[in-house]
Amino acid sequence: MIIGVPKEIKNNENRVAVTPAGVAEFKKNGHTVYIQSQAGAGSGFSDEEYIKAGASILPTIEEVYAIAEMICKVKEPIASEYPLIKENQLLFTYFHFASSEELTHAMIERKSICLAYETVEKTDRSLPLLVPMSEVAGRMAIQEGAKYLEKPMGGRGILLGGVAGVKPANVLVLGGGIVGTQSAKMAAGLGANVTIMDVSLPRLRYLEDVMPANVDTVMSNEYNIREAIKLSDLIIGAVLIPGAKAPHLITREMLKEMRAGTVLVDVAVDQGGCIETCKPTTHENPTFEIDGIVHYCVANMPGAVPYTSTLALTNATLPYAIQLANKGWEKACRENEELAKGLNVVSGEVVYKGVSDAWGLPLSDVKKWL
Ligand SMILES: NC(=O)c1ccc[n+]([C@@H]2O[C@H](COP(=O)([O-])OP(=O)(O)OC[C@H]3O[C@@H](n4cnc5c(N)ncnc54)[C@H](O)[C@@H]3O)[C@@H](O)[C@H]2O)c1
Repeated sequence: MIIGVPKEIKNNENRVAVTPAGVAEFKKNGHTVYIQSQAGAGSGFSDEEYIKAGASILPTIEEVYAIAEMICKVKEPIASEYPLIKENQLLFTYFHFASSEELTHAMIERKSICLAYETVEKTDRSLPLLVPMSEVAGRMAIQEGAKYLEKPMGGRGILLGGVAGVKPANVLVLGGGIVGTQSAKMAAGLGANVTIMDVSLPRLRYLEDVMPANVDTVMSNEYNIREAIKLSDLIIGAVLIPGAKAPHLITREMLKEMRAGTVLVDVAVDQGGCIETCKPTTHENPTFEIDGIVHYCVANMPGAVPYTSTLALTNATLPYAIQLANKGWEKACRENEELAKGLNVVSGEVVYKGVSDAWGLPLSDVKKWL
């Protein structure tokens, strides 16, 4: 198969969908890979490295779309890319159709095959192509939190781990899923006093088993949250209710219970946030302050560490991309239910219920293609 990897053109997107190691895997399986010049530069991969791994470099995005049977990307196509997409061209990338009606209609019109990273789903209902970015965001939340706890950054001026004779900081993690677990691990590793809250007792049992001694597990409810925030220096929002907006576990009125300079990192901001006063920010301007409380609410945290994020993402996507290239999308999806769940729009028809529900579009049965 001919695989094309365009350079990401969405604002501040430095990740790339295929690394030189990925090119080598495609080549080993008998495929041809075209990389747009400088596509890997933001993640630290030069054109020369791609060439060494066996790819050919094309100077323009137009040439990449024109030649490829499968386009591997990171972010959804933006308006300037729509006209480049060909009928029956396979696009393997994040789409998030339910948040863009324009994109949905554009892909229907282009009659391409849209296989979305975010809906590839394992039988245990986990989302293997979202997990790596949650891992990155969870770990980064503590790094960012530690930074903004410094006095010149607006924080309380407290070191997460303390020193001999001085108590460490208190870190509260709301939600013990992928993000929360990684945050708790990082904070604990730095020596902080960590409390992790979740509504799932089985999850709390698991965390209690695997976490180090400086992590306490506590049932998430309003009473416990109100008690904990009074003494927390850093609070991480990491709650997810699949398919719904995040609940506001910390309300505006609760800010006055906190000490000045407390830092809130609401990782769940991309689902509306679990802290009422959070609104999405960017890496250029990541924080704002309300009532003396520092809010960090960057909606695409992994974007700041493209090297790590690219490797983490492609470790997860490559095995699926190889299946698609080896078998063609119809056979690959027929033989792998996980991949079939990723199909959102096929040849002008919506095949994913969430997308048809979001925009009131007819739902076609994907089986007619498989
Ligand atoms: N900002 C970013 O850059 C970024 C990056 C990756 C993920 N995210 C977001 O982070 C959030 C968490 O993702 P995840 O992968 O960890 O999800 P997850 O499903 O693995 O974990 C969510 C956890 O929240 C728990 N929960 C639900 N209701 C709760 C409540 N009332 N109190 C406490 N816990 C509750 C669930 O039991 C679950 O354990 C999502 O909104 C995700 O979109 C943001």
